[in-house]
Amino acid sequence: MAGNPFHLAWFLQGSSVQAWGEPWTGHIGTTWRQPELFLDMARSLERACFDYLLLEDSSYVGESFGGSTEIYLKNGIATPRQDPSVVAALMTQVTSRIGIVPTFGTYAYHPYLLARLVATLDQVSNGRIGWNAVTGSSDFAAMNFGMNGMPEHDLRYDMADEYMEVCRGLWGSWDTDAVIADRRSGVLVDPAKVRAVNYAGKHFQTRGPLNSGPGPQGQPVIAQAGGSPRGRRFAAAHADTIVVNAKGIDAMRAYRDDVRKHMVAQGRKPDTCKVLYLINPILGETMEEAYDRKKKRECMANDRLLERLAHFGKVTNIDFGKFDLDKALPDDVTTNGHQLNLEQFRALAKGRSIRETMASFNAVDLSVELVGTCDAVAARMGEVMQDVGGDGFLFSMPNVNRRTLAEIEDGLIPALQDRGLVRKAYEHKQFRDNLLAF
Ligand SMILES: Cc1cc2nc3c(=O)[nH]c(=O)nc-3n(C[C@H](O)[C@H](O)[C@H](O)COP(=O)(O)O)c2cc1C
Repeated sequence: MAGNPFHLAWFLQGSSVQAWGEPWTGHIGTTWRQPELFLDMARSLERACFDYLLLEDSSYVGESFGGSTEIYLKNGIATPRQDPSVVAALMTQVTSRIGIVPTFGTYAYHPYLLARLVATLDQVSNGRIGWNAVTGSSDFAAMNFGMNGMPEHDLRYDMADEYMEVCRGLWGSWDTDAVIADRRSGVLVDPAKVRAVNYAGKHFQTRGPLNSGPGPQGQPVIAQAGGSPRGRRFAAAHADTIVVNAKGIDAMRAYRDDVRKHMVAQGRKPDTCKVLYLINPILGETMEEAYDRKKKRECMANDRLLERLAHFGKVTNIDFGKFDLDKALPDDVTTNGHQLNLEQFRALAKGRSIRETMASFNAVDLSVELVGTCDAVAARMGEVMQDVGGDGFLFSMPNVNRRTLAEIEDGLIPALQDRGLVRKAYEHKQFRDNLLAF
């Protein structure tokens, strides 16, 4: 492959109605229960040779805005939302190369159950599963699992470190060649290749071995998105790929350099983890058309300011409904949720009101602005990667529909491929091998 190839992935915000209120989504309000759109999406992204499709998740109905579920329910904000393991399993059955990465919260599953679920998905996908390991952030989610609230932010990552150790032990409790299936001797599994784990930690205990048998990858791919200093250390310790919404080239480079430094400190080779940056490219047949579309998206984002605040409040546990939106966010507001997001909001605010800040906060552009013809956007993506140093992009687009998918698969991707910036065919059968192919 010529030039500097980079990796591509897609961030699907939950197996849910997702694009309610967006144009070109047909009868999504009633057809969402059957994941036809998402299966078409998996096929399309595989034809475009994406590394993976990440399915976001949370396991509660939002209630952070005005102390009510109303705005979340009326507008379909992250609800209703199906269990990502089911949709992920279905996606694996209509594809053969792309990695599928469901999100599971460490607060929501016992590690034994999680390890078995992920190993099973790895089996049915022939080694194409990743797990987006999140610690969770909402007290409402915690209450659905019998807790009063989420443990403190950094403690959640300490617990998750232990959780990862348990899972790795369980995934390693079978050698990958333990199933010999020797019809002549009648022996299915070599008992010498399966062992107990006997893990007794501060937060988790398990005996093992795992009863699902080994996954083809042995250890599945781990995705992570730690943004805080503690979160970055966790990601650097465990992740094969990290996804981040860093704002601008300098922040993108700084994030990657920091994570790579942490990896070296932990005895890992930095090139074994691919850092992907969130983008929301806006394409047009001409530059004018693309900028016109961007303007329309900005108007739409502005019309949905309250909904976007409600979503932001959902991940930061902040009830923006109780503030005067025409005043600045009080300095003493902190979060036990996503810290990086709040930090980015404050950095953008510079004393401006909540309303003014939200008007531009993640409204359209994410890490960098990408607006133009397919050729112009492909060229810009190449430049950005050159400046940042690697490793690729994570598409995060609110208008998930077949029109958007066609624009990416049949417009942008060929323009990137013509420049030698992304792959034209998968190098390998398994997910991690493709992720590490360049
Ligand atoms: C692209 C991306 C995807 C994420 N997906 C999820 C998710 O599906 N579920 C979730 O609870 N958190 C998700 N998060 C939040 C992260 O796990 C993390 O909490 C957040 O980036 C803030 O970092 P911090 O917790 O270290 O402050 C995501 C973050 C990013 C940037």
